[in-house]
Amino acid sequence: MNYQIETQCIHGEKNTSLEHPYGAVSVPIYQTATFAHPGIGVSTGFDYSRQSNPTRSELERTVSALEGALDTTACASGMAAISLCLEILKPGSHIVCSEDLYGGSVRIFDAAAEKRNFSFTYVDTSDIVQTERCITAQTKALYIETPSNPTMQVTDIRQMKLLADKYRLLLIVDNTFLSPYFQNPLKLGADLVVHSGTKFLGGHNDTLAGFVCTCRQDLADQIRYFYKTTGGCLSPFDSFLILRGIKTLAVRQERQQSNAKKIAEWLKTQKKIRNVYYVGLPEHPGFEVNRSQSRGAGSMISFRTDTEETARKTLEKLKLITYAESLGGVETLITYPMLQTHGDVPAETREKLGITGDFLRLSVGIEAAEDLIGDLEQALQKN
Ligand SMILES: Cc1ncc(COP(=O)(O)O)c(C=O)c1O
Repeated sequence: MNYQIETQCIHGEKNTSLEHPYGAVSVPIYQTATFAHPGIGVSTGFDYSRQSNPTRSELERTVSALEGALDTTACASGMAAISLCLEILKPGSHIVCSEDLYGGSVRIFDAAAEKRNFSFTYVDTSDIVQTERCITAQTKALYIETPSNPTMQVTDIRQMKLLADKYRLLLIVDNTFLSPYFQNPLKLGADLVVHSGTKFLGGHNDTLAGFVCTCRQDLADQIRYFYKTTGGCLSPFDSFLILRGIKTLAVRQERQQSNAKKIAEWLKTQKKIRNVYYVGLPEHPGFEVNRSQSRGAGSMISFRTDTEETARKTLEKLKLITYAESLGGVETLITYPMLQTHGDVPAETREKLGITGDFLRLSVGIEAAEDLIGDLEQALQKN
């Protein structure tokens, strides 16, 4: 039975309550490192929790249902998920990536370049011609974020798939910003989808998690092998928390998106705001492409203030909106990418991308939009 995504958020592929002991409606937390064998060479299906655990397996099946994946591995963080993707590439591989990426991804790519002889070319992947020019005989993968963190560049996933097929490359998409509720890159041809589950999937700013999803059996086998070997798995309790978070993914994201639309429109009318970057605004250069490949614009907004001083004072004066790293949760957070998420990106690259002192990123939560706008208004007025 193919359920709608709102139903999949609650039940995954099917209602499993009667499969749990005593008919537990909420998945039990199997807080165990190991599992007894009923006989020699006989397994219950679970042997050791680094490899698999029933609570985590239920979460993995749910995320697979949401992404349309054959297999999903639940990792200890988004970074653990991204490092698994690198594991399956051979040393010497060249990877073409979106020029605007989460700073932690750039950091792990730098480390892989130094220690494992990988090389990376950063390019505006919204420009297919430029992207194709970066491909060399050593290129093994395309790695994109759409919308990207934090400048909200949109990349056409279908176009990337055409390039990937032409040059026999892996297409890897970080789908954190829209989550499977709004976008399913595997269905558009991606080979691997990664998530920071810490964000929208968890949704409550209380747990770290990451996911690698694929619809290819050969890749699933390789990922599973490195997963059990490197051990960056998600604990049973955290798996429970993320499953609980996913139950409200649909209602949270609808509410977050509706708040974000109101805030983006309001920001546009403010004298001290110079640019608003939100893929739900028709004037955003990626609006049409995003609309063609997703079911929504999500709730991430970046904006540029008139001066760096305005940006800094706004951060200091906000009372309700929390100045903190991360995104996707029920609480509205504001981030200063230059110092936080992208602090390790070389200054020259940051400047080129526009991640400067006047640039702020907002992750809109589920509070009343009026209260969020009121908070931004009082903070901007005090400048
Ligand atoms: C787009 C994106 N991908 C990956 C990550 C890394 O996820 P985690 O913090 O769960 O390791 C983040 C973290 O902010 C992110 O924004």
